[in-house]
Amino acid sequence: MLNDEQTIKISRVRQYTQQKLAHDYSGHDFSHIERVVNLCHRILPTEPTANDFVVLMSAYLHDVIDDKVVENSLAAKNELLLFLQELSILPDEQIAILEIIEKMSYCKNLTQKQALSLEGMIVQDADRLDAIGAIGIGRTFYYGGNKKNQMHDLNQAARADLTEVDYRHSNTVINHFYEKLFLLQAQMNTEAAKQLAQERHQFMLDFVARFEKEWLGDDQ
Ligand code: ADP
Ligand code: NI
Repeated sequence: MLNDEQTIKISRVRQYTQQKLAHDYSGHDFSHIERVVNLCHRILPTEPTANDFVVLMSAYLHDVIDDKVVENSLAAKNELLLFLQELSILPDEQIAILEIIEKMSYCKNLTQKQALSLEGMIVQDADRLDAIGAIGIGRTFYYGGNKKNQMHDLNQAARADLTEVDYRHSNTVINHFYEKLFLLQAQMNTEAAKQLAQERHQFMLDFVARFEKEWLGDDQ
């Protein structure tokens, strides 16, 4: 449970993020952040030892210093540190939040899995749940269009064992399902997220199977 002071700090952080992500058109807009926060609220009751303030702060801030969302991630990080100081966030909490948002992204975990705190595992699960299911499908096509990627190309194969550099070299939208999104269900940290992932995962499998059928004119 948050105390009054923490509730005020969370609402200030919410405003900060809303302003920072107001011009994002890559699927990392503020509605993504709100869905991630809501998913954290669904996971938190099942992890009673987690520090909910650190989870919610990190959920709100997890994309504001990311180099795919902001132009200069170092400047964004310095600005965030000043903001956290201005809010009088305790030094231990600042360290915990920064560590989570710097380590949790998918591409930072490709070549070597980063050790995360319980709070980090919860935010990472929530972020990944928003990458799968119907919302995940929507975000992926939206992102692909923004990057001028093809939807599908039978001559372009999906790659395995991606490095961070490979990950940044976009493939087709459909290949992104094979290269990342179908792998997320097995990588969930918490039991609650594993449960939530099941239906979303199956929905994506069904969608891509159907998409490929229609692409080939194989549907009846
Ligand atoms: P993370 O949030 O773990 O760092 P990303 O920000 O790279 O991961 O990806 C978030 C979402 O953006 C993905 O789940 C997907 O919907 C979309 N996305 C990222 N890379 C691609 C890509 N190459 N092609 C299509 N969609 C992508
Ligand atoms: Ni995110």
